[in-house]
Amino acid sequence: MASTLLNVSALSAGTEDKPILHDVDLVVGEGECHVLMGPNGAGKSTLGHVVMGDPAYRVTSGSISFAGEDVTELSADKRSLAGIFLSYQAPVEVPGVPLYSFLRTICQMRPELKTTARKFRQRVGEIADQLELDQSFLMRELNVGFSGGEKKKIEMLQLLLLQPRLAILDETDSGLDVDALGIVSRGIEAYREQVGGALIVITHNTRILERLTVDRTHVMVKGHMVAEGPAELIGEIDANGFERFERGDERCDDCPGCPAAGDAR
Ligand SMILES: Nc1ncnc2c1ncn2[C@@H]1O[C@H](COP(=O)(O)OP(=O)(O)O)[C@@H](O)[C@H]1O
Ligand SMILES: [Mg+2]
Repeated sequence: MASTLLNVSALSAGTEDKPILHDVDLVVGEGECHVLMGPNGAGKSTLGHVVMGDPAYRVTSGSISFAGEDVTELSADKRSLAGIFLSYQAPVEVPGVPLYSFLRTICQMRPELKTTARKFRQRVGEIADQLELDQSFLMRELNVGFSGGEKKKIEMLQLLLLQPRLAILDETDSGLDVDALGIVSRGIEAYREQVGGALIVITHNTRILERLTVDRTHVMVKGHMVAEGPAELIGEIDANGFERFERGDERCDDCPGCPAAGDAR
């Protein structure tokens, strides 16, 4: 078993006036690929944001440790420097800032990624080619007027360039056509091969998962982790949906003490 990279333990969190996550556990080993599924509004994106340190959310109990360090109180930029990456479900538009300058600035802030302007240009060019991303995009303002597919490819570009130890991809496949979906899958594959990083993929789309070797699947309903199982759990959800988890009246075979059993959640 891989050594633990991320350990979310008994985490409860929410906004100032609304509890969203309840007693959530999630352990991800170095280099592992985990999938997080659940119906809309389950709290999947919130968990991604809380792990990233988004100040919009408050942790009320529990802890988050990353690479052996307790990061529960750490700011988002420090977590980013430590190697956590979150691709946003709806990336922000930043008028006036060309994508290229944005990427260059981020890389220059990282001692391990700092490089000459020439080498940086070369590296970005290689990755853009790999992702079939037209290089003229690099000079456009960050995310302004980009199509859904283009935004997602740019996320992949960031992933390959920044080489985080843990990437949380929130619905990276939403709004993608088949070709773009292929490029994103290849981007994720390249990240795993070239960087060897761990992944938490939050998705509804089981097609993107066909090309990935998944170590573990987690199911979240109403802010609770209700089941955890092997990759095969994805196929079951694909066929039957979340009903059995939402009913909460059936024990998940693979999950001793499954919280889906017993209480009327
Ligand atoms: N910043 C926020 N302010 C208020 N409510 C929020 C905020 N973020 C999430 N929520 C609420 O928390 C619940 C879980 O949302 P979310 O994490 O986006 O679910 P999912 O990603 O599983 O669809 C929803 O009811 C959502 O409206
Ligand atoms: Mg979401």
